[in-house]
This record gives sequence, C-alpha cells and structure tokens, in this order.
Amino acid sequence: MEKWARSRYQPCLPLGENGTRVTGSKKHRELSRRAACEGTVLLKNNNRLLPIKRDAKIAVFGKAQIDYVKGGGGSGDVNTEYVRNINDGLVMKGVRVFEKLPAYYEQYCNEQYRKWRVRGDFDEAALPEELLREAAEYTDTAVITINRYSRENEDHTCDDSYFYLSAAEKTMVNNVLDNFENIIVLLNVGAMTDVTWFYDNDKIKAAVMLCQGGMEGGLAAADVLIGDANPSGKLVDTFAVCLEDYPSSEGFHESKDYVEYTEDIFVGYRYFETVPDMKKKVIYPFGYGMSYTEFKFSDVRACDNGKTVFVTADVTNTGEREGKETVQVYYKAPSDKLARPARELCAFEKTRNLAPGETQRIEMSFEIKDMSAFDDAGVIDKSSWVMEKGSYEIFVGNSVRDARKIQYEYVLDKDITVEKLHSYCAPEKLTKRLNDDGTYISVAPNKTGGMSFSCDYSLPQKPEEKLTLDNIADGSASLDELISQISENDLIDLTIGVPSIGVANTCGFGDKSEYGIPAFMTVDGPAGVRIEKNTGVLTTAFPVATMLACTWNTSLMEEIGRAGALEAKENNLQMWLTPALNIHRSPLCGRNFEYFSEDPFISGKMAAAKVRGIQSQGIAATPKHFAANNKETERFESDSIVSERALREIYLKGFEICIKESKPMAIMTSYNIINGIHSSENAELITGILRNEWGFDGMITTDWWNSANHVKEIQAGNDLRMPVGKPEIVKEALDKGEISIKQVAICVKHILELMLKLQ
Ligand code: BGC
Repeated sequence: MEKWARSRYQPCLPLGENGTRVTGSKKHRELSRRAACEGTVLLKNNNRLLPIKRDAKIAVFGKAQIDYVKGGGGSGDVNTEYVRNINDGLVMKGVRVFEKLPAYYEQYCNEQYRKWRVRGDFDEAALPEELLREAAEYTDTAVITINRYSRENEDHTCDDSYFYLSAAEKTMVNNVLDNFENIIVLLNVGAMTDVTWFYDNDKIKAAVMLCQGGMEGGLAAADVLIGDANPSGKLVDTFAVCLEDYPSSEGFHESKDYVEYTEDIFVGYRYFETVPDMKKKVIYPFGYGMSYTEFKFSDVRACDNGKTVFVTADVTNTGEREGKETVQVYYKAPSDKLARPARELCAFEKTRNLAPGETQRIEMSFEIKDMSAFDDAGVIDKSSWVMEKGSYEIFVGNSVRDARKIQYEYVLDKDITVEKLHSYCAPEKLTKRLNDDGTYISVAPNKTGGMSFSCDYSLPQKPEEKLTLDNIADGSASLDELISQISENDLIDLTIGVPSIGVANTCGFGDKSEYGIPAFMTVDGPAGVRIEKNTGVLTTAFPVATMLACTWNTSLMEEIGRAGALEAKENNLQMWLTPALNIHRSPLCGRNFEYFSEDPFISGKMAAAKVRGIQSQGIAATPKHFAANNKETERFESDSIVSERALREIYLKGFEICIKESKPMAIMTSYNIINGIHSSENAELITGILRNEWGFDGMITTDWWNSANHVKEIQAGNDLRMPVGKPEIVKEALDKGEISIKQVAICVKHILELMLKLQ
C-alpha cells in the first residue's frame, strides 16, 4: 500500500516512540523552548546587568508578564495546551519576584479577557502608587515588559501606539524610571518596534528582544534572564529611530487601492546602509545581537574558483560563558552604472555552542552569480541578471554595521550578463523609484505585458480499462492515462477545494473516489500546526517566523519543519501552509510576525530549511504568499506597484532561493494584485517566472477565498482554487472555448503529482 493512500482512512497512528503521540509532545515543546532561547536578541547590557543572579529579587512591571503574546492572530495562530508567560517562567525558575505585581496584572488581564479582549491587544494597566512604593522597597531591580499583538487582515497606523509606546505605557515606564536603579526591558513584539526610549536612557541598563516565542516563550525568557541560556539571536530587521525613517512609511496608507514601492530595492538595511545620512537613523542594525560572552573573528579569508566564493573565519569564544556566534558575509557590488546597495547579505553560518577559549573554523560559500543585479532598465542588458565590471568587496562580521572589509575582492574586467530572462510583471503605474543617492528618479509610464503562455499538454489515448490513482502509484499506468479518463466535470471539480474532514479546518482537495483519489487536507500555519481547540487536539506553538529567523540557525529551522510536519501527519493533514516569506517592508504590516525578515536572502535560506524539514516527512510544504503581499489593508484588491528589479531582487528572491534549494511540493499565490494583475491570475508571475524560469514543478494553490477569477487563474497556470469555487464558470468558459480542457487537465496533473509525492 502506498503511504499516501492512508489519507483514505483518517487513521489514528501515533508517530512517536513506543506508540506515543508527537503532537504537542514534550519533545516538541522542548524544541520550541530551545528555539525561543536561541532566537532571543540581547540588545543592551550595560554593566553586565544580565544575566541576573538566580537569587536576585526583581519587580516585574507591565501586563505583558501575564498577557504574553506567543505569536500573532489569524491563520498564524496555534492552539496549545498552555502558554507559559513571563511570570510563569520566572516562578518556574525560582526567581524571587515581587509577587503583588503579577497578582495585580493577572487580575487586570483576566478582567480584559472576560470582556473578550484578545491577548496582547489592550492597553497597559494603570499602576497603583502603593504597589510601586512597595515594589521599590522590595528591590532596586525592575523589569519592564512590553507586548504587541498583530494579526492578518489588519495593519497598524502611524499613530495607533503599535510602533511607539502608548501613553499608559509611558506612564508605567516613567514610574519605574523614577523608582529603580537597575532596569531591564523585555520586548514581546513580533518585529521592528521603537527602541529609542531605552536606547538613550542610561537608567535602563539592559534590553532584550523576546520577540514572540511560542508556547514556551515565557520560560525561555526566564532561561535567558538568569543565564541558563545564553542569547545568540541576531536581528533580522533594522531598528531605526522612528517610523518615518523607514522609506515605506510615507506611502503605506496613502491609498487602500495600491501601494507604490517607491523605495525600490532599498528595503531595510539596503536603504539605511546605502542612502547618504541614513546610517545615523539606525539604532540597532540588521544582524545585530549581543551575547553573555564575547567572540573574536580571526583568520578571515576568501578565495574563489571562478564560480563559487569560499569564505572561512575562525571564531573564538574569548569570554567566560559558552555561547554561539553567527558569522555574516555581505558584499558590495560596483555601482557606476546600476545603483547597488552598500551591503547585501550573501552567506551566514552559526557556530556550535563554543566553550570559553574554544575556536571553530566556519566555512561558507556563495556563487559569484549571486552578486548580480536585475537590469530592468537595460543599462547593461535588459531583463537580465547582470554584473557590472569592477571590484566586488566582501565584508565579514557579526552585523551589517560591524562587518569588516576583507582583503579578498572579486574583480570583473568587463560587464557581464549572468542570465538572460524576460520582462515580466512590469509596472504600469510606478511613478518614481529611489536611487542610491537618496533622490527619486521618475519612471515613464510602462505598458504591462499580461502575456499568456500556450499550454503544450496533450493527453494520450484513453485506455479501456478503468484506472485509479493506485495504478499510477504501482506503475501500471501513467498519470496522463488516468487523467484522460476523468470526465470534464470531474476535472473541473479537482481544481477546487473540498470540505474539511477530520480535524482539518482549512479544507482540502482531491476526493474523487471513483478514480481512487482521496481527500487530502491542508493546515496552517507558520508557527505550528493550527487545529481548532474543540477537536481536543492541541499542538506545539513554535516561535514566530521572525524569531526563528533571528536564530540564524538553519538546522534548527529544519528540525522545526520536521517536528511540525509530523504533527500534521499524525493528524491526517497532508499539506502544511507554511513557510510564509513575504518581506518586512514596513513596520506597519500586520503580518510581519509570520514572515522572516526585511532581507530576502535570510528569508529564502530559512524557508528552504523549513521546507526540507517538512518534506523529509512526506508532507507538502507550501511557501506563501507569492508574492509582494506586504500589506493587509484591503488585501484582496491592493495593488503592489513595484519595479521589476525590486520584485526580482527583493520580493521574489526569497521564493527563488527556497524553490531552487528545496523544491517545495506546493506554493500559495497571494491575495494582492501585482502591477495590475492578481497574482493568481498572473501568467507572467506563475508560469513565466515560477515555472519556466525557476523550474518549479509543484502545485500552485490560491490563497483562501481570494477575489480573483477562477477561469483567469486556470489560464495563468494557478492549479488549485481554495477552499471553494464556482465550477459552473469554468464549464461556461470551456463551452465558449475561452479555455481548453488541456489547461484544466494540466492543473489536475500538478495536483495529482503532488498527491503521489506525499507519504
Ligand atoms: C491566509 C493564509 C492561510 C489561509 C488558510 C488566508 O487568510 O492568508 O496564509 O494559509 O487563509 O487559513
């Protein structure tokens, strides 16, 4: 019996050792905690205030100590048996907290929850003076906790106290500042946030980005606070002085109908490190993060063999505790003709846990062609990846700002074309784009192609004997032969989702028993397998994607992919709707927590690692949302107006890395429009770039309930429409000859091919 066929039976097969279940298991919860410790970023630690002594007395302020946000809401949420908040963690670790504070906050939070307020989504509690006074008598060390909640389908605004502290939080912080000597800040926030209020304040000696650490997040925070874990997370975003410093802020809410990506390729550190005078706007740079120990890099070298650049560095732990360090490699390309960022991440590697005095040689490599730029303007060679002549400088260090230029340079004596491609998804309405000198260049109106591609699928002669999917699996017939026997109506049905069965809540696909095709179920999401609570199945919530990226640890990411996939499989769910790898273009995007980073390279590497882990268990991974889905407001109809170059270098790059490295079985198109065409209807995007240029051979699904047109999706090459559809409009289009049955059949072929890969 083929393993995929188990989907017919909804078996209850525990996948753990000795017949135990892996879903929400201790092993997975421990993995989640480990990842949360490793993704924690130590931002500030004056006088080595951290780690605090195990028997230290502390007073913890802020409702976030109780109201811990393990991850955001919507499809990125996970239902778990429990969530350990910061207070739980401290108590479990035996830290002597001033108990009246958590008791006070607990009561306050419970009142809010009774009013149906969502965890993390209500304001700070007012602090009674008496409590403050008593706390200050108990200890001189205070911890301030701050949290933020985000969800899909909702963005933040410049003045909704999301990025900045609210008035109530400022009052709380000021009260603490007035009464305590040693102050530590803990940020339970999903991505970029204001850090000026503690960065500039000497009374606040330490600050930790806890991010959103999943169900064990509060315990991991306590592990780090008392030094049972040494934080080794590095930021995957730039933390700037204010919201207006991010070039995306100005136009983010300009219209509900569109967003103009006028900063072009200068997103995140590519902007701050390149555009004159912007460096000083950065408080914590991309890649930054401290440790309780120190590291020294030595013997940093590079060489190339004409195809690949090899970089090695010795990392020595020169401090007194064991810890891990991340080596980051950036390059700077010549930019006489084409504007280029001053730094671009091209490789990274994390050390093992190094004992004091221990050295590890780190070896990294990247392809020379990975330093190319997409020339959409025809400066060197239009619609091609090109490399301009000159010196490509390499920088190695432990943040974008600290990376030092090394002796090695890659020198090109003439401009070259690395890969000749096509002009796809060109913007019609982009008015201007940022140059590396900080000026905007106006863009002449362009005409988008809207190109269609011919479908060269032909079906064989229909075999006489009735076939089922089993015949394909055992090799006695070909998939094309089976498809030739499927009726027109059934072919149409197969391109549309089917209702959920078992514990699924996001529906499935397939389910044509006359052809032996079982129903295969899908499941969210990026932080873990999301099953509704009322099924009685509680799963493991891992840290959010941003925090997993902050680990810079691809093998840990792979392990989480494997663990989550097993939880999906144990519950008869075949396609996991993860990883999500849109870009942290703006701090205001409601879904940043679900996405990895502002940088496409680390996003792509992390996504590839997760996909490898997932698919090693015979479960389909579904990188999403392809592409340029970086805003939630009016997400079904918002047009991302973006240059071809920014698309290729920033918004598609992570997907490209992931697809080429780990061959995901599926991909999910996004809700938004890209330069005038919905991504699921965008033939240039999904057939031109994804299938033809990158060689994607998996199945393409829509995002759920999108507002696009199924017929146009089939024409464009989007295989599956989720979770429901209107078969009659496809039938009508077939009858009118607007689409051909081959176009429907090829979608079905991709869907069935995916099924046969499942295990
Ligand atoms: C989200 C997807 C999710 C899907 C199914 C959509 O609203 O955008 O990320 O996988 O729902 O829940």
